[in-house]
Amino acid sequence: MLLLLFATTVIGATAVIKGDELATLRGAPLNTEPEPPAMSKTINNDIIPKRSYPMQPPVIPHKIDNYQVDLNANKCMSCHARSRVEETQARMISVTHYMDRDGNFLAELSPRRYFCEQCHVVQTDAKPLVATTFTDLDTLLSETE
Ligand code: HEC
Ligand code: HEC
Repeated sequence: MLLLLFATTVIGATAVIKGDELATLRGAPLNTEPEPPAMSKTINNDIIPKRSYPMQPPVIPHKIDNYQVDLNANKCMSCHARSRVEETQARMISVTHYMDRDGNFLAELSPRRYFCEQCHVVQTDAKPLVATTFTDLDTLLSETE
């Protein structure tokens, strides 16, 4: 009896999943190969956009193509390091980037902040794939007043 129940469940499940009926972000059924959309362009306008919330890592408003960040070199720091910003007019990495996990200040960039692109990303002109209901805190605050 149990075996029979199991068998019908499995058959039932496979019957539902049909590739050509699935709604996907690819915009085409799974068993077809749609024309890939053109690559979107990296935003490179040097304009610093509003942050969505105070703790947000700022997004990168410039291209970072071929910027080396590995064991041997950190290209980002050649402009964003404390000693470099006068010449480059980039913003200095903030003080949190010099802190270890216990909150002690280090003389140099903390290893936890070495790989910048873990947190900072470029933006592209791509259309959002899904809608968002994100509401800025300022809007929420003004609604409660
Ligand atoms: C050639 C110098 C240079 C290099 C290299 C560089 N940046 Fe920048 N960056 C700037 C300047 C200048 C700005 C100010 C806005 C602008 O001009 O694009 C900036 C802006 C930013 C901002 C926005 C800061 C804010 O307060 O909103 C972030 C984040 C950033 N860069 C991250 C990076 C990362 C990560 C890398 C390495 C992958 C990098 N940058 C490499 C010069 C540089
Ligand atoms: C683990 C995440 C993380 C990593 C890795 C990281 N950052 Fe940040 N960064 C942040 C956050 C969060 C902020 C905003 C809050 C703050 O200042 O701590 C920030 C702020 C900044 C700012 C703006 C500073 C200011 O005073 O407005 C710059 C520029 C920046 N980061 C550059 C870099 C560069 C260059 C690297 C790599 C050497 C890097 N960050 C690595 C999370 C990170």
